[in-house]
Amino acid sequence: MSNATFSHDEVRLELPLAEATQGNNGYDITRLLATTGDTTLDVGFANTASCRSAITFIDGDAGILRYRGYPIEQLAETSTFLEVSYLVLNGELPTPAQLDEFSKGIAKYHLIDERMREMFRSMPRKSHPMPVLSAGLNALSTFAESKYGAGAYDPDRATHLLLGAMPTLAAYGYKNSVGQPFLYADESLSYIENFLRMSFGLPTGPYPFDDAFTRALDVLLILHADHEQNCSTSTVRMVGSSGANIYVSVAAGVNALSGPLHGGANQAVLEMLKGIREEGGDVTSYVNKVKDKKDTTKLMGFGHRIYKNYDPRAAIIKKHADEILRNLNGNDELLDLAVQLEDAALSDPYFQERKLYPNVDFYTGLIYQAMGFPQNMFTVLFALGRLPGWLAHWREQANDPATKIGRPRQVYVGEVERDYVPIQQRG
Ligand code: SDX
Repeated sequence: MSNATFSHDEVRLELPLAEATQGNNGYDITRLLATTGDTTLDVGFANTASCRSAITFIDGDAGILRYRGYPIEQLAETSTFLEVSYLVLNGELPTPAQLDEFSKGIAKYHLIDERMREMFRSMPRKSHPMPVLSAGLNALSTFAESKYGAGAYDPDRATHLLLGAMPTLAAYGYKNSVGQPFLYADESLSYIENFLRMSFGLPTGPYPFDDAFTRALDVLLILHADHEQNCSTSTVRMVGSSGANIYVSVAAGVNALSGPLHGGANQAVLEMLKGIREEGGDVTSYVNKVKDKKDTTKLMGFGHRIYKNYDPRAAIIKKHADEILRNLNGNDELLDLAVQLEDAALSDPYFQERKLYPNVDFYTGLIYQAMGFPQNMFTVLFALGRLPGWLAHWREQANDPATKIGRPRQVYVGEVERDYVPIQQRG
């Protein structure tokens, strides 16, 4: 591959090649505006790389996803969420001693300032837990600073503190919504076990752990750990590029993730399946509705900006869904409906022509529901999984000497200059 050349009228500009180790290369247009007086236009940044990154590789045509070079299929089958978090953050799989130190360094931060309980208790019972989680993360930055001063922003401490506090914040948001007491973490339990017990446990007795349940959640969090420059990760990077601290940058990522086109899709899929069931379970008429251009209905959990093939995460989740739902006495009826919907879509030219396949959100909600989480908690679980990716990208950006504050340009299509008209002369 070589540099590209941009030419327009008598202007010629060489665009240096930004070479990838794998996948798409980039053409560096840093000099374009200064040389031509014009910018590029790429709504949604579908053709634009915002940075160089070494964390995650996706080949959307081949349906490949790797964290630091390791295939997602191997990590999902053999690793744990904390080990994958270490990998995503540090670039290498940990030794036993490194993993032990990492886990202990996180566990001590499961305990958050006692006064944060009042904040959660002050939230309306019916709050959606995503803005509550975002509020908790913003508040966490103030409690961390009040306790550790500037040390709160040491990247390693902040990373461990956020990974430790996130399960607690997520669980407390849920506990407040169901009016149950908050539980403290138990240092004899694993990361996932602590989250499950703080979410579903009661102070009146032991929590009945189910190993299949715990492992299923571990795998789901692995599958969500990172996904390169997706909307919420790009938001974390954008906010961090202004010098904003890592806590509020992650809170911004939570807000971006809450949208139904992004992480909120896992909740929207369940709502869609239940709606189809209430209408009599006719997937064909739903698919026809989706195809009707006059109708804005989308097939939630389908389609992806990068995957033009089956999302490898969806394939893993679907494989697990059968066994997990059977173990958890989950709702097979909705799973059957989802499989029928997938089959109908994948055999329909509308979806084939647009290369629309199930994405990570299509089957996850069925499993989360079977685990006992309410629909509005599904995206909180996505955030719990995505946290290591957000942290890794924030740190990669902070350590990159090439980083500049994010400030895109625009193509102005408004009014040209005109003079002010006094109100007496208007109307
Ligand atoms: C996630 O980026 C990431 O990596 C995200 C994520 C991660 O891990 O961080 O993978 C997680 O967000 C997964 C996506 C979850 N969202 C949904 O499931 C919502 C439904 N999907 C769509 O809204 C859509 O597919 C997007 C938002 C995911 C992608 O949108 P794009 O890339 O902007 O594609 P597009 O809207 O330009 O669609 C191209 C065509 C259009 O038709 P035409 O105008 O060409 O006729 O495909 C159609 C769209 O109408 N289309 C769909 C569709 N998705 C795209 N039609 C019906 N149902 C859909 N789901």
